[in-house]
Amino acid sequence: MHDLRSDTFTKPSPAMREAMANAPVGDDVYGEDPTINELEERVAALLGKESALYVPAGTMANQIGLALQTRPGDEVLTGVGSHISLYESGGPGANSGILIREVPGDGRFTLDAFEAAVRPDAFYRPRLSLVEFENTHNQGGGLVWDLEEQKAIAERARELGFGTHLDGARLWNAAIQSGHSLAALASVAETVSVCFSKGLGAPVGSCVAFPQAMRQDALRIRHRLGGAMRQGGIIAAGALFAVTHHLSDLEVDHQRAQELGEKLTELGFGVIPPQTNIIAFDLPAPLAMDGAAFCDVMKTHNILLAPIAARRIRAVFHRDLTTDAVQATVDAAAKVIQGAE
Ligand SMILES: Cc1ncc(COP(=O)(O)O)c(C=O)c1O
Repeated sequence: MHDLRSDTFTKPSPAMREAMANAPVGDDVYGEDPTINELEERVAALLGKESALYVPAGTMANQIGLALQTRPGDEVLTGVGSHISLYESGGPGANSGILIREVPGDGRFTLDAFEAAVRPDAFYRPRLSLVEFENTHNQGGGLVWDLEEQKAIAERARELGFGTHLDGARLWNAAIQSGHSLAALASVAETVSVCFSKGLGAPVGSCVAFPQAMRQDALRIRHRLGGAMRQGGIIAAGALFAVTHHLSDLEVDHQRAQELGEKLTELGFGVIPPQTNIIAFDLPAPLAMDGAAFCDVMKTHNILLAPIAARRIRAVFHRDLTTDAVQATVDAAAKVIQGAE
């Protein structure tokens, strides 16, 4: 079975498991887990931030970033289809009491679109207090932001007194694709989340990074959400291993997504040109089935994909796929088309 549903399906390798088994640990609620401390320092340095906090999930990392910079009743601007809008169980409303408004675009947005979305402040409006970016943009198909555009938006947001949060679950992929450093990409936001449990291949965990002055509040919010762990070094060791050994491997996933895109285009699929490890494509017009039915048939050919809209499918490349995954997917898709003719 080739599982292209998500890069979250990656499993720890034997070497990673060994590093986890041997990790020194302590009580992290007391700040005494050496492995977590090392991971937090490493990630803060990579992102060019003063501090970072290890949390169980990217969702919690985002929720902490939002809670740190907003008050109940505030409004957050974000891109269309962002993870905080669609996939965090209403966390922004439930945890911070904030409203989300999406800025038109493909998940990314321009400075002009941002300016157009900013309404003059008035007591009867929600207070606009935060701009949120997602890089790479998952729902958009792994899209990478243009750093200059993003910097211009971030600068304008700061002028207007807004906070900035970056959902960088796959910032590693954006860095590889753009050639910019992680710190350069992270510089557009005060708080930044990153995930270790996606293409990097660790089993659990994320970090949220921020200025040192926010650390005490971040610790409080994480504790309130039940995210403070004790001997969490066991799992943080997987993240440390991934950051140390797996970063440069992501390039292969990007190449495979490109290759699949080219081959599916030849078969008549409407491919959104992939930039990183995620590829979204629409079914060819003559194929009379919806995305879910297509994925069901592909499964019978040992290919697992995810339907993300009526006739749009998502495939995600990751380190646990074998080299024949691209060809196997193309062969299966060709058979489905032939079978439907
Ligand atoms: C862009 C983005 N942000 C945040 C998350 C949340 O990560 P987690 O599943 O660890 O909560 C995901 C998960 O897929 C994601 O794709």
